Amino acid sequence: MLFLRSVEASISAPMTNLVYVLNGPNLNLLGTREPEIYGTTTLDDIAGMLEDRARELGLEIDMRQTNYEGTLVDWLHEAQAEGARAVLLNAAAYTHTSIALLDAIKAIRTPVIEVHLSDPKTREAFRHLSYVGMGAAMTVEGHGARSYLIALEAVASGDV
Ligand code: DQA
Repeated sequence: MLFLRSVEASISAPMTNLVYVLNGPNLNLLGTREPEIYGTTTLDDIAGMLEDRARELGLEIDMRQTNYEGTLVDWLHEAQAEGARAVLLNAAAYTHTSIALLDAIKAIRTPVIEVHLSDPKTREAFRHLSYVGMGAAMTVEGHGARSYLIALEAVASGDV
């Protein structure tokens, strides 16, 4: 019984063409939030751009935003359970604080790409540390909304 349970647990969901795009705190305000740093593109605009490009690439997008750290952890677990091909994760400020997110990234086999609109490494010192980056397969930052598209293309081309 115990043996069977562990065998079942080791069988992962079949790989799909689904890409989870997870967004953390304050990104719901994109478009009006500090536009001199993040631009005027809204999260809905980014979702639209990603959906169009995903269609061309034969991928499917599931785009979400939350202001809660634990919800991001749950969604990372769900991405693996659903057989997602990859996760694009803009954890926003939790990038720089969350060991829970690093542990979640390390706990799943689904590759995670760290995404940022701005380049945190050129900003305040407290943004230079990235817990997400310690577990992510790749980081794309500093290209504005295009960072998400570059990350999606990396998934499509099999770079992660
Ligand atoms: C951000 C960069 C983070 O440092 C910041 O806390 C954000 C947005 C970006 O996309 O540039 O909220 O993740």
